[in-house]
Formats: sequence, structure tokens, C-alpha cells
Amino acid sequence: MSESKLEALLDERREFPPSKEFAKQANAQPSIYKEANADPVAWWRKQADRLTWDKAPTKTLEWELPFAKWFSDGTLNASVNCVDRHVANGLGDRVAFHWVGDPEGDKRTITYSDLLTDVSQAANALTSLGVKAGDRVAVYMPMIPEAVVAMLACARLGAAHSVVFGGFSASALSDRILDADCRFVITADGGYRRGAVAELKPQVDEALTKCPDVKAVLVVKRTGQDVEWMEGRDHWWHDVVASAPKTHTPESFPAEQPLYIMYTSGTTARPKGIFHTTGGYLTQAATTHNYIFDVKPETDICWTAADIGWVTGHSYIVYGPLTNGVTQVLYEGTPDSGGKDRWWKIIEEYKVTILYTAPTTIRTLMKWGHALPQAHDLSSLRLLGSVGEPINPEAWIWYRKYIGADTCPIVDTWWQTETGAIMITPLPGITATKPGAAMTPFPGISVDIVDNDGKSVGNGEGGYLTITAPWPSMTRGIWGDPERFKETYWSRFPGSYFAGDGAKRDQDGSLWLLGRVDDVMNISGHRLSTTEVEHALVGHPAVAEAAVVGASDDVTGQAIVAFVTLKLSADVAEKDQGPLVAELREHVSVMISPIAKPRQIILTPDLPKTRSGKIMRRLLRDVAEHRQLGDVTTLMDPTVVSMIDGLMAQHSSDDD
Ligand code: WT7
Repeated sequence: MSESKLEALLDERREFPPSKEFAKQANAQPSIYKEANADPVAWWRKQADRLTWDKAPTKTLEWELPFAKWFSDGTLNASVNCVDRHVANGLGDRVAFHWVGDPEGDKRTITYSDLLTDVSQAANALTSLGVKAGDRVAVYMPMIPEAVVAMLACARLGAAHSVVFGGFSASALSDRILDADCRFVITADGGYRRGAVAELKPQVDEALTKCPDVKAVLVVKRTGQDVEWMEGRDHWWHDVVASAPKTHTPESFPAEQPLYIMYTSGTTARPKGIFHTTGGYLTQAATTHNYIFDVKPETDICWTAADIGWVTGHSYIVYGPLTNGVTQVLYEGTPDSGGKDRWWKIIEEYKVTILYTAPTTIRTLMKWGHALPQAHDLSSLRLLGSVGEPINPEAWIWYRKYIGADTCPIVDTWWQTETGAIMITPLPGITATKPGAAMTPFPGISVDIVDNDGKSVGNGEGGYLTITAPWPSMTRGIWGDPERFKETYWSRFPGSYFAGDGAKRDQDGSLWLLGRVDDVMNISGHRLSTTEVEHALVGHPAVAEAAVVGASDDVTGQAIVAFVTLKLSADVAEKDQGPLVAELREHVSVMISPIAKPRQIILTPDLPKTRSGKIMRRLLRDVAEHRQLGDVTTLMDPTVVSMIDGLMAQHSSDDD
């Protein structure tokens, strides 16, 4: 890297002051922190008034560590909060979703009135199939409006949904159906991805050979492909839902009624069924959505570019935004369905104002170059969000500069499936931002960074992220396994929730998330985050993406091995790869410290990623340590890792 580029990047790591435009009319005013943190429990009780309760709660928090109840004597219906009450308030004609299909031109507009009819019909149809309050229903769907309708219809009946990402295999689906004892499945014949048909019903059929207790399968016709049919068990949505009565009288449920289960991977092979309940979850989803994204329901067009198969889709496509009554874009496809500028076309066409996505996607878009977004009118955008992993400063700067016209505030939001809603984030108009930092806990949330012994660290130091007080949208546990819940999250630092993430407080006290602690390396006794080294590598102009692992080393304990993909524009001939690797190692040494200099850098055309886009470092560690490869079944493309293994063997002479 040239000196000037390096200087420019370091200079760009400056602090961005809070936007004055936002400060004038932001939903959150600076007093919010003082108010909330003076009495967080009382503040959250006040936030619960955003919801429509059939019986308002008189209790706020009951806390028997690690099990919390919030608003437990209140009763409500989640789908009424998301839909009916907006129609009752005269907003029935407001668009709930501008749905954009993967194939260009495939689109639908759904108002809140339409949504009410759809959810009512689906609730009636599910009732006729036997779904009752307290049941669990698996949802395995493409990103179509019926997926949202299915979730809300379950919620309306007091049945917990368990949405399984449509990219998961039949065996992952059957594991999840069995673990939660789901008796019903809602699916589609298939969906579209980059114009091609991706099948779903055949996976369900295969999964159900292992799930004899599933009584009914409801199938949306999306692609029209031929599907197997089991009479008596399988039902077409267009038969049973479309013919069902158009009104449905909702029942009221206690605040602690289970709302959903969402499976997430832990450190062991068995996924954990993280479950959430109704009143506290809706309160925090709606409150965070309101203040962090500063939504103005009359004018904003929100686009959370995530799949409803993940928690981001649950909290920031379904429950937060719908509780707040906003208009959204719901998009079925990938960033390059129908061309690498598809996203920019969508933003331009629907005048999207608030965009929320993941760093891995930002880096992909960045790799395709800024000429594509620059050819479109993105001036409607006023706020950008990031979630899912630490965002490297270069991607943050690119996002702000080329997508956000150098004016949009960026909210880097830290949270987890387990936390249910955002926990650490800047607030637009209030918090100064730093590229790569999530900055500060949300009002009413208490976190601490602690050392190995659980002692709080000072400014300028790093440690483990813990959450020190209960919060409304916290998971109520691991489905069917309270012991595992205690052990996984509450045993490491007694009294606190251990998030599994490393974090640091900088000299000003701002919070930086450093990635999972299992990815923190110890090099000659120095603690280094894989993320820090990755940030440095991605800061080099030739690098598109980097994954760093700590491989065991006889001398230094661990040594750094980096796997790097290059930008399309960085056309490097075979003979120039050696010098480039040397330059990259030097670059890291300059950017962080000589301690951080990777022992080895492998240039590879691709990295092994899960279907949700996370790089699987565990497999890269296996490669780096010349071990037998672990389980590759959750990878998007299982062949990538054996290819990298081959490259590693070829280049093992790079070591020095
Ligand atoms: C893990 C949770 C939250 C919805 C999507 C992921 C990492 C998440 C950030 C962020 C740094 C982040 C953490 C966390 N993570 N957001 N803004 N900065 N790291 O949900 O699959 O439950 O993953 O994602 O490591 O523990 P998830």
C-alpha cells in the first residue's frame, strides 16, 4: 500500500460528529440516556406503552437469574399490534410491503388492510388444520409476503413459529422440527434465486420421513413446479387460505406467551433453539427500531435486506417495523439477481430511506465497484445500518461515502439471536460515530467489558462482553434445555450474561466489538483479534475479503494464518503473487504491529461461508493446522474448503 493511501485511511478513521440534520428532528433526544439509565426498568415500562395491551401490565420485571419475566400480568396479541391496530387507526391504505421478487418485474404491493385480510384468512385456515395456542409451527419459506403472513397468523393464534432458513437442507429442517416438536409445517413449492428455481417442498417431504408427528403441511404455490403430494397431509395455500373467512377475532395472550423459536449454532454441533416471548420482545423490537433507525412511519421506506429465516428478519422486517406501522421493501433475491446493480435500482425505484444490511454484503457490493451505485439516484437514503459482524473501517467508509452521500449516519448495531433486539449502537443525531465501532449501549441496557476474572476493564483495554442486567427482549432460554442455557451464557461470569464476544473500550470509552472470543488469538502472549488483522488486510487496495485464524505454533503459542481473496480489479499474475503476499504481511505489520504479521497468507478465489454469509473460521483453522476437516455440511459451497486445503499444501513453503 502506498504511504498516501495508508494515511488517507488512518485519517478517515476520524470521528464523525452526530448529524446536525438529525439532531433537529430525531426521535431520540440526548436526554434519553439519562432518563433511561436513571431507572431502566421504569423506562422500559414506559416503552411498553407503545404496544396495544388488552390488559395493561402492572408488573414490570420479575428476575430470577437467569430467567426473566417482563410485563407478566399484561395481555396482548402480537399480530393485532403489527396489523389490526394500524387499520383501526385509519392507516389501512398505508403500504406495509412493497414486495420485489427475484425475477425482475415480479412485484406486489400490500397495504395494512390487505395484510389484515391475509393474516385473518391464514389464521382461520391454520385453525381448521388444527393449530392451537401453545403449538409450534415450522415455517420454511422463500422471501415472499406469505412468509410474513404465516408468522403473523401463528402469532395471532398464540402458536410459536420456528422459521427455518430456506437454504437449509432437509436434515437440518427435520432436526429443528423434531427438537421443537412442531406438528405443522408452512412452506412453498419453491422459490427463486438469481432467476433459478430453488426447491423447498421436496426438502420438506424428505425431512418429514423422519417426523411422523407432523399432521399438516400448508404449501404456497410460488414457482408452479411439479411436487409430490400426500393426500390428507398436504394442503395448498390457495385452496385453504384463499377460501377461509376474511375476518378473525383475535384472542389475547399473556405477555410471556412464547412467540417464536429461532435456531442458532453454538460451539457444539447441535443447534440451540433460542426462544422468545411476546410482550418484552415486541417492546424492545419496536423501541429500538423507532430510535435507532429514527423512523417516521408517514414518510420512511425501510429496507432491511435480510432473510426472515434469521433473527434480523424477525425483529427488523416483521415485529419491530410492523409494530411501528412503517412501509417497507421486502426483497426475495440476492444482490446480483438480474444484474450487479439490482439493489441500487430497487432503492431508486422505491425511494428507500433507511437501509439495513450486513458487512459481508457491503464488501461484496464494494468489490463490484462504486460506479454501479453512482449510476443511480440514491438521494432518498437518509440512514444506513450494519449488523452481523464487526464492520471493517474501509467498508464503513465506503458505505457512507458511496451509498450514503457522505451525509447519512451509519448505525453499527451489535446484538444476537439471543438478545432479540439491538443492544449496542449509536443513536443518529446524538452519538458521534467511528468507523468500525458500535459505540455505546442502547438506553436502558447495561453492559460491561471484563477480564478473565470478571473484573471491569478500563478505557483503552479489551476483554469479554457481558450484559449485566436483564432486558425485555432477552431470550427466555434454550427450548427444552434450561441447563444448557445456564451453562452456556450464565456460568462464565456469575450474575452476568456472557455474550461470547470480545470487545474493547477505547480511550474515549467507546465500545468496539472484536468478534467471537473463540476467534481471539494469543500470539506470544499478546492478545490479538482475528478481526483486527482482517481489517488491516481488507484495508489494502488489492484485497476484497480476508479471514484470519490463529493456528497453533511451537514457538509463539499461536501464529496468524490469513486467507485472502483479491478484488476483481487486482489482476495478479502467478509470478507476482509472492511479492504481493510479502507486501500484505508488511502492510499488516505497519497497520497494527509486527506481532500481527501473518505467518502465512494464502491467496484464494473464495472463502468457506455458511449460508448466512459467515466465514467458517473453524474450518480454516483445520486447514491451517493441517488437520482432518471438520463438518462441512452447513457451508454454502462445501468444495471451497478442499480447494483451499489444496492451495495450503501447495504454498506451505511460504512459512518463514
Ligand atoms: C453474533 C450474533 C444480530 C443479528 C445477526 C447475527 C456478531 C452481530 C455485530 C456488530 C460486531 C456483531 C457477534 C454476535 N455481531 N452484530 N454490529 N459488530 N459483531 O445474529 O447469528 O445470533 O450472531 O454476531 O459476534 O455474537 P447471530
